[in-house]
Amino acid sequence: MKKLLFLLSITLTFNALGQSKIDVKKQFALAAQQYEGMLKSHQDITKTPQSTNADGSPRDMPTTWWCSGFFGGSLWYLFEETKDPQWKVAAEKWTMAIQKEQYNTGTHDLGFMLYCPFGNGYRLTKNPEYKSIMLNGAKSLATRFNPKVGVIKSWNKFQSFDYPVIIDNMMNLEFLFWAARESGNKEFYNICLSHADSTLKHHFRPNGSSYHVICYDKDGTVLRKKTAQGYADYSAWSRGQAWALYGYVVMYRETKQKKYLAQAQRIASYILNNPNLPKDKIPYWDYNAPNIPNEERDASAAAITASALLELSTMKVAKGKAYFKAAEMMLQNLSTPVYKAKIGENNHFILMHSTGHKPAKSEVDVPLVYADYYYLEGLLRYQTLTKKK
Ligand code: GLY
Repeated sequence: MKKLLFLLSITLTFNALGQSKIDVKKQFALAAQQYEGMLKSHQDITKTPQSTNADGSPRDMPTTWWCSGFFGGSLWYLFEETKDPQWKVAAEKWTMAIQKEQYNTGTHDLGFMLYCPFGNGYRLTKNPEYKSIMLNGAKSLATRFNPKVGVIKSWNKFQSFDYPVIIDNMMNLEFLFWAARESGNKEFYNICLSHADSTLKHHFRPNGSSYHVICYDKDGTVLRKKTAQGYADYSAWSRGQAWALYGYVVMYRETKQKKYLAQAQRIASYILNNPNLPKDKIPYWDYNAPNIPNEERDASAAAITASALLELSTMKVAKGKAYFKAAEMMLQNLSTPVYKAKIGENNHFILMHSTGHKPAKSEVDVPLVYADYYYLEGLLRYQTLTKKK
């Protein structure tokens, strides 16, 4: 892997003028070729592309699964970049596949499930049906907020705890901010502030890293700080840090409150100055995984982090250039054959080498649909920023 990385790093296009180092158009053309294969191999919209099973076969999941909206979301990104109507047709089909989840009050993941496909679809088409589905979805999500606790409940049960909240939950807030704006219902906005403030208070360690699961009592007191997908309760699960970073960047974008910007920068510092962040900046699955460097990477954590850092770089922060450079390097490396699959391979996913749930030995060193989604989002953000330069 090291040799290959070296060869690739010298062959990557370097523009001496300091402009774009990634050929976004080319990367999208390759992604489109790969996803053409994905569409051909997926005719049944009740089985959404997720990953690869241990035996190498495609792993598909029902629409109730937290990742069901990412494929539709990626199809919208392909349409946005290429303007090719075939992607709009496919995106519409795979977006509407998730519509029944608007009434799902049994999950906190409606931000991922609805806002990635319907939110992007609405942004690009203004289809009023998408808006009404999302507003119903926002109401469903809000049922999981208990004002006495002050946060949106993640899972209905975790071990012996009845009110667990995971750091991933921060990713719901962009959806609720949208719903507050579109509906005029201030309650959605207030939920965002309350959830983000409690999370800021309870989820983070002094070094800027985040616990995965905070177990609350019914009056909002914290009972335990734990992990589900990380190495240990005290460790920093890589994707959790990425969700946290993305979440507080959104909080600052939506509220302009400095405390959220400061938090986003603390998280970015933890990630970027971490001695366990590899040279190519694609994290191991946990920053404290016990056998580093012999641990699996998580390309999804890199893609989410890169997309968030690109937005953070635009927020008039002292380290803006460093954030941009780090994100650029992540996206550049994800775009090499070390992480990006050959056309027709990898069960038609774009990226390889993500880790879903290592402690459960589930989805380890595999493609993951949300790694592709945030990679495409990151490329689009990178293109916008490099066009301006
Ligand atoms: N939200 C679950 C995960 O990031 O794996």
